[in-house]
Amino acid sequence: MTNNLSPIDKAKFVAAKRATDFVEDGMRVGLGTGSTAAWLVRCLGDLIEKEGLRITGVPTSSRTADLAREVGIKVVSLDEAKWLDITIDGADEYDGNLNLIKGGGGALLQEKIVATASDQMVVIADISKQVDTLGAFPLPVEVVPFGWQTTKALVEETLVGLDVLGQTTTLRLNGDTPYITDEGNYIVDLHLKRIGNPRQMSLVINQIPGVVENGLFIDICDAVVIGFGDGKVEVRDINAGTIEEDHLDFIDDENMFSDL
Ligand code: A5P
Repeated sequence: MTNNLSPIDKAKFVAAKRATDFVEDGMRVGLGTGSTAAWLVRCLGDLIEKEGLRITGVPTSSRTADLAREVGIKVVSLDEAKWLDITIDGADEYDGNLNLIKGGGGALLQEKIVATASDQMVVIADISKQVDTLGAFPLPVEVVPFGWQTTKALVEETLVGLDVLGQTTTLRLNGDTPYITDEGNYIVDLHLKRIGNPRQMSLVINQIPGVVENGLFIDICDAVVIGFGDGKVEVRDINAGTIEEDHLDFIDDENMFSDL
């Protein structure tokens, strides 16, 4: 069955599988959103079923909540869990300092709240997400629907004074209508090409009234698990300054791959 997976899916799968080593019995785990995080949720479901792993999951989107329940993870809200041992999530880009762009899947707000309320955040990604400088991937900014065009114009005005290469902004659409987040907001994507100073960008953008949150995760991520299509996995821990290499064999598991 795994033979049917593309190299990129194999890379996502092995990153997710390796990241389950961070999860211990009894932990409260933040569950990310996106295709890589979906692999993680499936892998955790597998461990619950086959090895009796007991965890409580806090999903970062309604999509992840649905999948988590489906695979047998006990789902609670962040306020019920209060604080998490670990959050494992995907990313759209990560740089050498493990600063991230997230929100390509539209869940950046819950993802940032959940990751910030965790002792540890681990990102799972294939190597294509690695960049020297953040910004080639459009930076998602969640804005309230009220006055969104004014907010967008203010964001554009602010970009003029920042160290970026592009200044185009677009409202994210779902067909012909605005994409609506789980929190009922809109997303404006900033096509910056290169973000010279991500920390400054994040602070300045969040000062604009109407902006709820932006997709830059600065100093939040502790480690990245990078998957490759041949089963190689690299774990980079920014606090310990270590890089570990591993290799995972692909297993043919009817349950885990049945819905693909
Ligand atoms: C969801 O809002 C995002 O932050 C995702 O974590 C990110 O887009 C990565 O998604 P993939 O794992 O699907 O690439």
